[in-house]
Amino acid sequence: MKYDKEKRTFDCEPTLTDSQVLEFCRNGYLILDAVVPDEINQLSCDYLDGKLPANPIYIPEGLTFEDLESFRTTGEPSGIMLEEWFIEHVLLNPQLAGALRSLLGKNVGLPAIISHHRAECPAGPQGWHHDADCVFGPEVNFVEVFYYPQDTPRELGPTEVIPGSHIRRVRVEAGKEELREVPRTPPHFVVWEPTKVVTDAPAGSIIIHHQSVMHRKGPSTVKGLRRMLKHNYWRTVPPERDWIIEPDFDFQTADYWGHGVAKYIAHMFYWLCGKGDDFRIMGGQAWPWHNRNQIGKSYGYGLTEGYRPNWRNNNVDDYAA
Ligand SMILES: [Fe+2]
Repeated sequence: MKYDKEKRTFDCEPTLTDSQVLEFCRNGYLILDAVVPDEINQLSCDYLDGKLPANPIYIPEGLTFEDLESFRTTGEPSGIMLEEWFIEHVLLNPQLAGALRSLLGKNVGLPAIISHHRAECPAGPQGWHHDADCVFGPEVNFVEVFYYPQDTPRELGPTEVIPGSHIRRVRVEAGKEELREVPRTPPHFVVWEPTKVVTDAPAGSIIIHHQSVMHRKGPSTVKGLRRMLKHNYWRTVPPERDWIIEPDFDFQTADYWGHGVAKYIAHMFYWLCGKGDDFRIMGGQAWPWHNRNQIGKSYGYGLTEGYRPNWRNNNVDDYAA
């Protein structure tokens, strides 16, 4: 692990494979169960509850120790990111760092702000939403992570996400917010019926989200306090396929899912490989669409001319010239 304290970046070995990077492109999230040690989870809760004296490794320019202390009880307790134990075990957590390095390339930029989603339970669910200023496009220039410093079973209202909703705005009909739940893996996103995944998880779990994925705080049923920290990591280099390459990974037959979504998922994966500008498709049942019952490979793989997915969603057939 190379941590540059001055630039606030890190570098390390990537840990995700081609298939896992593609899985992130399909789902819009990756769940890392219980990766932060218990004693660090406890320190995080104590810090957020104001029980732990602050000991920042430095005071950022333009701020004072008192400023950092005044952040602590707000929704943005960013001073926690200056605590040595938090930097080492949460921000630079080895499993998290390896996944981020895979998705964001070398010299990943560390968060500048952290949000604390503190909730008194029991409470009803939050409304389904895409986070503010999210963008739909093939680019993965930043990702959002949610860190649960405490056990977050279903009773405490863990975050619920709609798989695949990071590629386009999803509408959840009024009165039908309790979506059908699907297992975390494999996901079963279909464009005509949004489904949900519940991210209940033990203390120390971290969920990496595409920032555009639709989500909500789930309903909670027991009395207690639910703490959750949210922060973003940033790309500082152009994308390239420098994660763990699988020798038998085949771009032609890889699973980008079906109609309505495959072209977007494949485009995102190609962008991450540094080949986003060259991505061209024919449409219909041509590549990247495929179905497991077909007896030959999909047509249209490797085109140099053709259409591109219409991420702006502003024409009739979902293709851009
Ligand atoms: Fe949100």
